[in-house]
Amino acid sequence: MSSIFSDRVKKILLDAEKCVKVPQSYSGELFTGVDLGTAYVVLMVVDSTGKPVAGAYKFAQVVKDGVVVDFTGAMRIVKELKANIEERLNTELLKAAAAYPPETGKSVVKSHFYVTEGAGFEVLNMVDEPTAANYVLNISDGAVVDIGGGTTGIAVVKNGEVVYTADEPTGGTHFSLVIAGAKKISFEEAEEFKKDPFNKKEVIALVKPCIQKVAEIIRRHIRGFKVDAVYLVGGTCCLDGIEDIISKEIDLPVYKPINPFYVTPVGIALSCIGVKEYGDFEGRGTKIY
Ligand SMILES: Nc1ncnc2c1ncn2[C@@H]1O[C@H](COP(=O)(O)OP(=O)(O)OP(=O)(O)O)[C@@H](O)[C@H]1O
Ligand SMILES: [Mg+2]
Repeated sequence: MSSIFSDRVKKILLDAEKCVKVPQSYSGELFTGVDLGTAYVVLMVVDSTGKPVAGAYKFAQVVKDGVVVDFTGAMRIVKELKANIEERLNTELLKAAAAYPPETGKSVVKSHFYVTEGAGFEVLNMVDEPTAANYVLNISDGAVVDIGGGTTGIAVVKNGEVVYTADEPTGGTHFSLVIAGAKKISFEEAEEFKKDPFNKKEVIALVKPCIQKVAEIIRRHIRGFKVDAVYLVGGTCCLDGIEDIISKEIDLPVYKPINPFYVTPVGIALSCIGVKEYGDFEGRGTKIY
């Protein structure tokens, strides 16, 4: 169930995958998306046409359940990834946007803002994660669900507008903890085991109850809205077959694009395009176009 995505979406995600390995040619200004995740810190760069041109990521424990717990560490990693991309692109990265989990307090938005600014960026936008994902997917009706490492973010979209967002502290980290416990291996070994396609049958069997819990979370949050379909993004959705289990549980069509890992970071970068200046991040920000 992945062919409902437009050629534009497929191209963006193929370009994202490609440009992390080899930086691509670009035109116009560059904009960086900073995704401070529970499992990965990801920087993705798009050009003025919205094409992903470079990216880098690092597995890091500087954010817990969407909240920055190691401010200096987070800033150091963003600086490191920024410098790495700048060297490969042979240009300076100036402008960025960052994301935060939906329905978190102002202090969380601020901490994500200051990490990005402290790493040397001019921050043009702050956007919540599933809303960022929809900059790529362009869903006009449905629910965008970002299943990351620490949290599951949900955005209900009606006529192209996000009308509801929510965030719950369940994600791939919990899946890995379950695998670690069942197989009596360390968390790091469980992470590797989970991502190895060779283990996919065993992994799905072990984490099925976790997936069902995520499905229950989705069901609870979309209840009350007329949602016809769910669109999955986030690294945890790389798990083969996760969409089928969720679809069965919530009794709705569930779609995921190729490489759901890159959707949110690219969307964060895309959210910069057309923004000249970010006025105020208190009260959700006033963007000046
Ligand atoms: N191929 C894969 N198969 C299964 N899980 C994967 C795969 N690749 C990444 N993951 C999992 O995806 C999660 C990371 O996804 P993502 O980068 O979207 O999360 P995050 O942004 O760091 O976390 P959050 O959004 O919750 O703060 C990790 O739990 C990781 O183990
Ligand atoms: Mg995330």
